[in-house]
Amino acid sequence: MSGKKLAFITGSSRGIGFAIAKYLFHKDWEVITHSRSGRKPEFSSKHIQADLSLECERNELIGELKSYCSELHLLVHNAGIFLPSLISEKETTQKLKELLEVHVIAVQHITAELLPIMPAKSNIVVISSIAALRPYLPGSAYSVAKAAQRMLALCLREELKSREIGVHVINPGPVLTDSWQGVDLPAERFSSPEDIARIVDLIVELSPRTILEDITLNPMQGPIES
Ligand SMILES: NC(=O)c1ccc[n+]([C@@H]2O[C@H](COP(=O)([O-])OP(=O)(O)OC[C@H]3O[C@@H](n4cnc5c(N)ncnc54)[C@H](OP(=O)(O)O)[C@@H]3O)[C@@H](O)[C@H]2O)c1
Repeated sequence: MSGKKLAFITGSSRGIGFAIAKYLFHKDWEVITHSRSGRKPEFSSKHIQADLSLECERNELIGELKSYCSELHLLVHNAGIFLPSLISEKETTQKLKELLEVHVIAVQHITAELLPIMPAKSNIVVISSIAALRPYLPGSAYSVAKAAQRMLALCLREELKSREIGVHVINPGPVLTDSWQGVDLPAERFSSPEDIARIVDLIVELSPRTILEDITLNPMQGPIES
């Protein structure tokens, strides 16, 4: 433990989570990273490996984190997966369960367990998506999970006001990460992961009197339509 403010970012081995963790590290935060595969970024002071779709692994993660630190000042729920899946197809039932487990159940489970070590004026950030705001085919089940995740965050915000813990929602449009592997579009059609990191930095720089309720970002040329 370094005496610095401490952040825990889920899914921070790559993509948006990695960019957020790296940005905060350079802003003098101590950063605890996480992934499913166990790839530890070099700047991370501790890395936790856990598959968030599995309750037993989430319990291990919570135990490991609580034995490492007694106070957490920033919790970023970023880990996520995109699975193409139409609500009208039978195969979607299993995919919807997995999407809800990672984007919704895990967020509720981890938040409720970590709240006792989050003091007043700490922050929770949920990386939702523009897919939470309208159907995003062919990712219908993903849209359902992201909409549920966003509503979870809005409810949590109301519940935590009296404890002075801010809950902030970011809804990115297309961001250039592995999620878009195989899609043949120029980099300019995407936002960069660092842009999302800048928003998280803004959140932690705000006075505790203000929250960033719900911010939507898109590439300059607009969202990528299916
Ligand atoms: N990219 C976009 O266009 C976009 C747009 C809007 C919202 N988002 C949201 O932003 C977040 C990050 O997306 P991204 O594009 O940066 O993703 P990414 O590059 O694919 O990285 C996903 C991260 O989440 C972790 N992860 C995935 N499934 C997991 C599981 N079951 N248990 C634990 N960790 C898991 C991965 O760990 P491993 O490295 O070990 O696999 C990785 O660290 C997601 O919530 C996504 O829905 C993304």
